[in-house]
Amino acid sequence: MGLTDTLGRPLRDLRISVTDRCNFRCVYCMPKEVFGRDHRFLPRRELLTFEEIERAASVFVALGVHKLRITGGEPLLRRDLEILIGRLAALGDLDVTLTTNGALLASKAEALAQAGLSRVTVSLDSLDDEVFRAMNDVDFPVARVLAGIDAAAGAGLPVKVNVVVKRGLNEGSVLEIARRFRGTGHAVRFIEFMDVGATNGWRMDDVVPAAEIVATIGAEFPLEPVEAAYRGEVAQRYRYRDGAGEVGVIASVTQPFCGDCTRARLSADGKVYTCLFAVRGHDLRAILRSGASDEELDAAIRAIWERRSDRYSELRAEETSSLRKVEMSYIGG
Ligand SMILES: C[S@@+](CC[C@H](N)C(=O)[O-])C[C@H]1O[C@@H](n2cnc3c(N)ncnc32)[C@H](O)[C@@H]1O
Ligand code: SF4
Repeated sequence: MGLTDTLGRPLRDLRISVTDRCNFRCVYCMPKEVFGRDHRFLPRRELLTFEEIERAASVFVALGVHKLRITGGEPLLRRDLEILIGRLAALGDLDVTLTTNGALLASKAEALAQAGLSRVTVSLDSLDDEVFRAMNDVDFPVARVLAGIDAAAGAGLPVKVNVVVKRGLNEGSVLEIARRFRGTGHAVRFIEFMDVGATNGWRMDDVVPAAEIVATIGAEFPLEPVEAAYRGEVAQRYRYRDGAGEVGVIASVTQPFCGDCTRARLSADGKVYTCLFAVRGHDLRAILRSGASDEELDAAIRAIWERRSDRYSELRAEETSSLRKVEMSYIGG
């Protein structure tokens, strides 16, 4: 029997945040009023080094993790990221993936693919340049992200597109995005705006329910549900009946899926979080920097996972509204 938590969930995925900084200020993630000039990001010495990340990841892999996702902040801001990708890809027969806003992807795609990246997820909330610039709030043009997606595909990387839908901002972009990526082989995932962190002014009224997104797309292109491919798959997938591929929705607010969550998260400063909505992380960096052996690291991670009982999304309404939650840009989504 492998490692499981108190609810019988195995440890299968690790999300690794490599920086808490970002070149965007997405209104639902790092609003400018909070992450403006005076915000204090982590100083460099507090970030895990590539060696520390690699060592931690190798222990997670030995405990059963087979998927590593690099995230941030914006992971492509971390210099020489492809070196880390190469080291992680060498840890075994793993899925090594990256979630990025795509701003720097055009120049990095080839090196990432060469290093052994398995695939890439690009966040793209609208094809309408005005809406896109307003959502990233740094006036970044959508054309450069689209060029990044093309470069990634050109380098042979399978591409997924993540779209956070916020009522009143980009719900009008849903159909246009579905139309554009149908038939391209790039899977699109529409994500409900989540109440992560404490700064994005989340309100239930701003959530566009996944069911509404499916109905909107289905009205133009008939859809049928696809069975989950594996335990813990967060997206509900639908197939276009005309054979033009798939779309998915991530209904983390309206239909939480804690029961199947197999994910741990490692923050840029080396804290392990067992839930996106956790208030406190476990300080792995202190252990890594104390000269601990791999056996001691293994025992520490094992103990964290075996004690895990989080299911915050399912409890959301009753218990989480008053919690001081960590920010998405810190923990990496
Ligand atoms: C925190 S970002 C980090 C990686 C990279 N900067 C990016 O944007 O892809 C990871 C994912 O979280 C999503 N995200 C951020 N804030 C969110 C929120 N409040 N609700 C739902 N998804 C969110 C982003 O759209 C992105 O797809
Ligand atoms: S969603 Fe990604 S790109 Fe947008 S502010 Fe958050 S970390 Fe940056």
